[in-house]
Amino acid sequence: MIPTSILGLVLLSSSAYAHTYIWGVFVNGVDQGTFRGIRTPAYNAGPHAGGYSNSPVKDLESIDMRCNVLGDIQAPDTIKVQPGDNLTLDWHHDYRNDTDEVIANSHHGPSLIYISPDPPTENSFVKLWHEGLYETLPHPQPGKWSTTSNIAKNFGHMNVRVPQDLKAGFYLIRAEMIGLHEGDASFLKNPRRGAQFYPDCVQIEVTGEGSVELPEGVSFPGAYDYSDPGIVYDVYCSTETKTRSTGPCTTTYEIPGPSVWSGAWAETTAVSVSPVTDSSTASTWSTWIQNSIVTSATYTDRKTVTVVGTSTYTASWSSTYQTPAPATTRW
Ligand SMILES: *[C@@H]1O[C@H](CO)[C@@H](O)[C@H](O)[C@H]1NC(C)=O
Ligand SMILES: *[C@@H]1O[C@H](CO)[C@@H](O)[C@H](O)[C@H]1NC(C)=O
Repeated sequence: MIPTSILGLVLLSSSAYAHTYIWGVFVNGVDQGTFRGIRTPAYNAGPHAGGYSNSPVKDLESIDMRCNVLGDIQAPDTIKVQPGDNLTLDWHHDYRNDTDEVIANSHHGPSLIYISPDPPTENSFVKLWHEGLYETLPHPQPGKWSTTSNIAKNFGHMNVRVPQDLKAGFYLIRAEMIGLHEGDASFLKNPRRGAQFYPDCVQIEVTGEGSVELPEGVSFPGAYDYSDPGIVYDVYCSTETKTRSTGPCTTTYEIPGPSVWSGAWAETTAVSVSPVTDSSTASTWSTWIQNSIVTSATYTDRKTVTVVGTSTYTASWSSTYQTPAPATTRW
C-alpha cells in the first residue's frame, strides 16, 4: 500500500515541456469538468526546475503502456454516456484553453483511440479510430500528421463516438498520441531515443439497452512491437523527403496496432463544444515516480526541492470491476 499522504499529492502540472494528456471530456459538446473521469498520469521522471509534466512512455513492455504511469489508479468519477454519443477528448499540455500548444510542434505522429471493458483483460482493447500521416507535402515542408496538424491545431480536440448499440457497462477509452521525432531509433537499442507514447484513459459507463459486445482486441502492453514499421520510423525522412545515407525514405506511414473495428463509426464527428466551465489550470506536480519509487516533495521555489517521503509503487490492476472510491477518500 502506498501511504495516503504520498499518493494524495499525485495531481497535475504546468510545464514548459511539450508533453500532453487529457484534461477534460465533452459529451455531445458539453464539458464534463476538468480532469473528471480521467486517469491523469503522474510525472514519470525526477524533479525538474521550471515545470513538471508527464514524460512519455517508451518501453513497449511496460504496464504503463496501458493507461500511462499510475494508470491502474481509478479516477473518483466515471462519465455516463450512451451509444452514439459524440465524445471530444480535450488534450492539453500547460493549461486547458485555446492558447495552449497541446503538443510540441516537433512531435509528429499518429493518434489512436481504443476501448476496453473496465478493467482490461487479455486482448480486450479494440481500436475505434486512428489517424497517421494524412498529407505529404513537398520538401522542405513537413507533411501533415495527426498529432501536430490535426489535434494540436484543433485546440487539442480528439473525437470519438460511442459505438452504436454498445452493451451497457463500464469501459475505458484509451486514447493515445505517439511522438515519432526520436522514433528513427528503437528504444530497445537506444533507450535515450525511441518513439514516445502518450496514452491516457477515460472511465466511461455506457447506459441503455445496447446488445453489441466488443470483439477480441489487443493487449497493452503487447499490442506494439519494435519491429512494427510504425514504431521505428524516421519521421523527418518521411515528412521532409531528405536524402539519407541510411537508405531510401518512406513517405507512407503504417499506423501501429490492429485495424479499426468494423463496429466503430466510420466517421469521427467533430461537434461544437461548450466553453470550459471548470478550471483551466492544474497545480504543479509535487510528486513524481521514477523506477517504481514515488517521491513526494515540496518546493520553496522552482529550484529548492524538499523531499517529504518516498514509497515503492507497483501497478496493481484488478481483474474485476471495482467501484471507484469517492474523491474525498480516493487516496
Ligand atoms: C453525433 O454526431 C452525429 C453527426 O454529426 C449526429 O448525427 C448525432 O446526432 C450526434 N449524436 C448525438 C447523440 O448528439
Ligand atoms: C490560457 O490560460 C493561461 C494560463 O492561465 C493564460 O496565461 C492565458 O492567457 C489563457 N489564454 C486565454 C485565451 O484565455
